Amino acid sequence: QAIPEVEALLKKMTLEEKIGQLNLLTPGGGVATGSVVSKNVEDKIKAGNVGGLFGVAGPEKIRQAQELAVKNTRLGIPLLIGSDVIHGYKTTFPIPLGLSSSWDMELIKKTAQIAAQEATADGINWNFSPMVDIARDPRWGRIAEGAGEDPYLGSQIAKAMVQGYQQEDLTAENTMIATVKHFALYGASEGGRDYNTTDMSRVKMFNDYLPPYKAAIDAGAESVMSSFNDVDGVPASGNKWLLTTLLRDRWGFDGFVVSDYTSVNEMIAHGMGDLQAVSALSINAGLDMDMVGEGFLTTLKKSVEEGKVTEETITQACRRILEAKYRLGLFEDPYKYSDSKRPQRDILTDANKAIAREAARKSFVLLKNENNTLPLAKNAKIALVGPLADSKNNMLGTWAPTGNPQLSVSILTGFKNVAPQAEITYAKGANISNDSAFAKKVNVFGPRIEISEESPEALLEGALAATTEADVIVAVVGEATEMSGEAGSRTDISIPNSQKQLIRELVKTGKPVVLVLMSGRPLVITEEMDLPISILQVWHPGIEAGNAVADVVFGDYNPSGKLTASWPRSVGQIPVYHSMKNTGRPAPSAEFEKFKSQYLDSPNAPLLPFGYGLSYTSFEYGKLSLAKKEINFGESLEVQVDVTNTGDHDGEEVVQLYLHDVVRSLTPPVRTLKGFEKVFLKKGETKTVTLTLEPDDLKFYNGALEFVAEPGQFEIFVGGNSNASLKETFTLN
Ligand code: IFM
Repeated sequence: QAIPEVEALLKKMTLEEKIGQLNLLTPGGGVATGSVVSKNVEDKIKAGNVGGLFGVAGPEKIRQAQELAVKNTRLGIPLLIGSDVIHGYKTTFPIPLGLSSSWDMELIKKTAQIAAQEATADGINWNFSPMVDIARDPRWGRIAEGAGEDPYLGSQIAKAMVQGYQQEDLTAENTMIATVKHFALYGASEGGRDYNTTDMSRVKMFNDYLPPYKAAIDAGAESVMSSFNDVDGVPASGNKWLLTTLLRDRWGFDGFVVSDYTSVNEMIAHGMGDLQAVSALSINAGLDMDMVGEGFLTTLKKSVEEGKVTEETITQACRRILEAKYRLGLFEDPYKYSDSKRPQRDILTDANKAIAREAARKSFVLLKNENNTLPLAKNAKIALVGPLADSKNNMLGTWAPTGNPQLSVSILTGFKNVAPQAEITYAKGANISNDSAFAKKVNVFGPRIEISEESPEALLEGALAATTEADVIVAVVGEATEMSGEAGSRTDISIPNSQKQLIRELVKTGKPVVLVLMSGRPLVITEEMDLPISILQVWHPGIEAGNAVADVVFGDYNPSGKLTASWPRSVGQIPVYHSMKNTGRPAPSAEFEKFKSQYLDSPNAPLLPFGYGLSYTSFEYGKLSLAKKEINFGESLEVQVDVTNTGDHDGEEVVQLYLHDVVRSLTPPVRTLKGFEKVFLKKGETKTVTLTLEPDDLKFYNGALEFVAEPGQFEIFVGGNSNASLKETFTLN
C-alpha cells in the first residue's frame, strides 16, 4: 500500500537527496565494530547526505541531530536513530542465550518492551535486534546473542521480541522498529569462526535456519539486517536471491534492509569487485541502506549515470526508508523521542530492575546438584571464591554497549543482600586466564580479564585459606564477557586452565563445592560434570546478576531454565544438536559395532542435551494420551500428559514435545521440537498439560521447497528434555 505523503515527498526529491537517505552513519559513540567510524557527520547531515544515525543517544543530542536534518536540509526529512539494544538498554537483562533458556515467551516479550521503553526515552527509534541466527557451533562467540540451536523455539522467541519492541503501535512514544538479523545463516559460519563463509543446501536452510527470520517478519519486523557472510557464494549484502527473491517475493517483506557494518565495502575483500561495483550489486540485490561504509553515497550517482543502477531502484530503496520514518510518526513530530523528562522517568526504574532480576533467575540452568547441596542455608558458612565472584565488569555480557557494568550487582554483593546472616569469606582464587596475550584480545572494551599481581600459587593459597572454616564452597568461574560475543570465537571452549586448576584443588578439600558457571556459550565441561560437585549455569546474567544468583543459590527461587543448545562432550563432537538425522547406519544404543555412524572415542550424544535442566524438586511424567490416533490433513491434534511435582519444593517445569516423522520424502530428523509449555506445580501437585500440534507443525520444506505434510506415521515424545522417552504414535491420512 503506497503511502501518499511518502509518494508526494519522493516526487520532490533529487537523485542526490534520495541517495542521501540510504546512508547510515555513526560518529562512534556506541561500539565501533569495524575499523571505520564516520567522519564529518554534522556536515553530512546538513548536506542531506544522511538517512539515519546510530551510536548517539540522549534526548538532547537526538534533538540536535534531528534539528540538523530538519532545519538545514531542503526537505527537512528527519533521521532514523538506531542502536544495538540486544538484551536491554540500561537495565541489562541476561544475554539472549540465557533469556532463551527461560522458555518464557511472556517474560522475553516483557524484556523487549522494557528495552523499548528505555531506549526510546533516550531518543532511539530503531533497534538492531532481534538476532535470530540459529547456531549449532558453540565455537562461534555470537551464539551468546541468539536463542540457540532450534528453529521452532527460535521462531517463538523472534516473534515475542518483535512484538515487545514494536507492540501494537509503532507511532507510540515507547515503541521502536525491530530489525531481524543477521540475514541470513550467519550462525552457520564454517568452523565457528566469525564472519566466515557459510554453505548449506536449500532444504537445510529452509527447514533449520530460515524459520526464525520468517517468524520475525511475519510478526511485523519493519527492518532486516543483512549478514557479513556469503550465501551460495554471494555475500548476503549483495545477494539478490536472499534480499529479493526470498525476502520480498516469497515472504512478502515490505520494510527496509540495512547492511551490517561496512558489509558492502567488505564485498571488495570477498572478491566481488571495487566499491562502485559492490555498491551497485547491493542496491540491485535489494539492499536499501548502507551502514557506515558510504559506498552508496559515493558511487551510486555514477552508477546511475553509467546505466548500472536505475533511478527507480534508488527511489524504491528511498521509499522504504521514508515509509519507516512515516510509520514511526517522525514526519508528524521529528522530536517525539526527545523528551528530556523521559530518561529519569523510564530508565533504570525499580520495576525494570525487578524484571531484570526475574529474567536472570529464570535463565539459570541447574546442570548438576550433587547430594542436593543446593539450595544453601541462609546462615551457612561460605567460601565464595573465583575470578568472577567479585566482578562487575563481566556481569552484563556481550553486546551491552548501552549498559553500565559499574551498576551491576556482583555475586558477592548479591550474596550479602539476600543472605545477610551467612558468613562469607571471599577470595579470588585464580585469574580468569593467566595468558596475558589472550587477556589483551579479550579486553578491548574494558578490563574483563584482570591478571592479578599475585602469583597463581598465591591466589590458590588464598582460596584454600578461605575454605578452612567453610561449610560449603561456591566458586564463580567461567568466561569473561568478551570471551564470547562478536569476534569471540574460540577453538577450545572449556573452562580456562587457571580456573580448572582452582576447581580441582577445591574438590580436594572434601567440602561440598558449587560452581556458579558463567559463559556466553555452551562450554565443554566433561571433566567438571564428572567431579562430585554441583553446577549452576548462569550465563552472563545482566545488571541484577548477584541478586538473581543469590535468589537461586539460597532457594528463594527454584531454578527452571533449560538449555537451548546442546553442550558437547568435546570440540571434536561439534556440530551436535537434538534434531540430527538417523543416517543409514545409526549407532547401536549399547555395544560398539564396526561400520556404524559413530566415533571410536566418544558417544554421539552430547554431554548435556537440548532442553536439559534440573530443579530443586523432581517431576514425574504420567500418562501420555492423544485425542486421536488418526488425523486428516489440516486437522490439529491435542496431546495430553500428566506431570507431577514429586519433590520437596514448588517449581516450574518446561514440558517439551518432540516429533518424528517416520517416513517422508526427505530424511527426517530423529526428533524435533514442536511444542512446549512452562508449568508451575506446587509440591505434590499434578497437572494435565495439553499441547496442541497444529497442521503446520507436521509440515516441512520438501525437495521442491514446498511447505508440505506427507501422510503416514508420526511419533511423539514428551518429557523434560530432548531425550524424552514417553512415546505415542499417530497417523496422518
Ligand atoms: O548490529 C550490529 C551487528 O550485529 C554487528 N555489526 C555492527 C552492527 C551495528 O552496531
